[in-house]
Order: sequence, then structure tokens, then C-alpha cells
Amino acid sequence: MSDGDLDIDGLAAEGSRAIASASSTAGLAELETEFLGKRSALTRAHRALGGLEPEARKEAGRRLNEARDRLVSELESRRAELAASERADALRADRLDLTEVIPAAVRSAPGRGHLHLVSQARAELEDVFVGMGFVVAEGPEAETDWYNFEALNIPPAHPARGMWDTMYLDLGEPETVLLRTHTSPVQIHLMEQAVAEGTLPIHAVIPGKCFRLDTPDARHLPVFNQIEGLVVDRGITFGDLAGTIQLFTEAYFGPGMQSRLRPAYFPFTEPSAEFEITCTLCLGEGCRTCSHTGWIELGGCGMVDPAVFDAVGIDPAEWSGFAFGFGIDRLAQMRHAVPDMRSFLENDIRFLSQF
Ligand code: FA5
Repeated sequence: MSDGDLDIDGLAAEGSRAIASASSTAGLAELETEFLGKRSALTRAHRALGGLEPEARKEAGRRLNEARDRLVSELESRRAELAASERADALRADRLDLTEVIPAAVRSAPGRGHLHLVSQARAELEDVFVGMGFVVAEGPEAETDWYNFEALNIPPAHPARGMWDTMYLDLGEPETVLLRTHTSPVQIHLMEQAVAEGTLPIHAVIPGKCFRLDTPDARHLPVFNQIEGLVVDRGITFGDLAGTIQLFTEAYFGPGMQSRLRPAYFPFTEPSAEFEITCTLCLGEGCRTCSHTGWIELGGCGMVDPAVFDAVGIDPAEWSGFAFGFGIDRLAQMRHAVPDMRSFLENDIRFLSQF
């Protein structure tokens, strides 16, 4: 066999090309057998060296070894490359994509929350009344019997107390302390303060929480919110009260809302009325929410009773006034036509996120 019989360079170049274009370690193993294995052309050529002249054998042997060494080293580096990319592929395939397991609601970025509908209503109501010239005041949620009842012309054992049953607090105080049943006691605080500081007249609204032993239903909650209004000035008439309520109704509900003042009784106003609007769920037809009357009561109102002025030391001959107390939850319920007020407390994000 002569050197010319075996194209060592050609064989090595062919092997190099095949190794470079191998696409897997398995394919590379086959190429190793083909180009370097026992039956490969290079191995066969090695075996045949014995038949050559010593000089030619030496030269051919050197070139064969060189070619083999080069192929071995190319093979090793290609094997390392392919093994690395096969490992990366395997890892990618094995990766557990948690986004496929976790429900969409949890996966999505937490959305930005917003004020509860009732808090939004409270803020809007404050805006409406501030726009009409009222100031916003606040008062305590726990009151003494004097403020919640007696100063409001509701003496002990008065039947009206039955309408406003609540939770009593045992604070070891000599006086009876209770969770206020309405925001009306803040009328007393404001009048006492104005008398003490000589700051009459008063044009104030007082939003806040109220508590009653009411069974929750479509229009009632045991903890709810009212916005009280109190005007004490000279020459105030029932016309001022009716006009204020009319203006308020238009500002909060928009024009076209049908409302009425129905004669009623409250111990702390005389005359008294209940303020009602057409039920926004049935538009007056009658439904479960309005107990099939077509009307929804939003609050009570009236002219401040002289007995209340007496209790705080205001001269009813000089001053007159009106007061009202509207349910904030009820107002929000009617404005958004919510069939059942209990939805406000159920914390169902599908309900709350609508507003
Ligand atoms: C009163 O609380 C009087 N203090 C209102 C008042 C103020 C009259 C000033 C005269 C002068 P009444 O109990 O009707 O009144 O409640 C007024 C409003 O509060 C109701 O019309 C209703 O809108 C709301 N309200 C009363 N109880 C509840 C309740 N349990 N859940 C939700 N809203 C209620």
C-alpha cells in the first residue's frame, strides 16, 4: 500500500465536516465508529503500514496519527458542545411552568383597589353638602344616654326608644353608655359647643357609623352609616328644609328623581317627615327591595323641636332650625340600584369592583 492509495487528508477533511455538522451526541458516537473505530479507513490504513518501506511507513504513520489526533480532538470539543445544548434542552423541557398551574386570578399582578362603595358615597355626599354651604363635623360613636336619647326629647321609657334598640357598653361609668343608634346626638354636641363658644348659627352635616339591633335584610344592616344635617339660624322654615332636600336629591341622583316628604314622628323634630324616593329597582312598580310599596325611605327630617333647644340652652324665640338624618348605605344602594344591602358586607370582589 502506498501513501497515494489512501487519501489521508481527504479522509480527515471528510471526518471534520461530518463532526462539525453532527446534530446530536448519538450521531457523534456513530461518526466516531465510522471514522476512528476498528473498521474505519484510518484504522485499516494503520494496519496496512507494515507493508511499507521504513521511511514511507514512518511518514504515513505520522500523518495518520496527526489526522487521528485532530479528529479525536474535534470530536471531543463537538461532543462537549452538543452535550451542553442537549442538557439545556432537557432542562427547558423539564421546567415546571407554574404559570400553567396557578389560576389566572392569582397569577395576574394584584390590581389597585379603591374605596368601598359606601365610603365613596360618604365622600360624594360631603361634597354635595359642602357645595351647598354646610361644614362637615364628626362626633363619638359611643354616647351617653343623655346625648343619644334624653337631650333629643326621648326620656327613659319613651316608646320611641323601642325603635332604636342598640348595644350597651359596661364601662363602669355612672352614666349609661351605648353605641349610638343615629347621628342625631351630634346635633346636641354641636349646639352645646356653639352656645359655649358663641358661634351660632350652625350649618353642618355629620356623617358616621350607627348601630342597631336590626336583623340584616335587603334594606337594613346592624352597623350602617348616616349623614345628619343641622341648620340653626334665624327665621328658618320648613320651606328651607324642603328646598334643601330637593336640591340635595337633584345633586346626588341627578334630575328627574321622584321624591316626597311624608308626615312622620320623631321626638326631636316638630313637624317631622320621612324623605322617600321612588324605588330605583322597580321604578315604583313594587319589588322585594321596597317591600312592594314602590317607595324607599332614605331618612327622617323636621324642624328642631323647641324642647331640644331648651335642653342645650338655645332660645327658641330667637332661633329656629331644621335637621335631617339620611342613611348613607341606603342612598348608595338606591343610586346604584343594588337589590340587597347585605352585598355591601359580603366582600365579593366581583360585586365591589363594579363601583
Ligand atoms: C333616624 O335615625 C333619625 N335620627 C333621623 C332624623 C334626623 C329625623 C334628624 C329627624 C331629624 P330613622 O330611624 O328613620 O331616623 O333612620 C334614618 C335613616 O337611616 C333611614 O331612613 C335609613 O335610610 C337609615 N337606616 C336606619 N336604620 C338602618 C339600618 N338598620 N340599616 C341601614 N340603614 C338604616
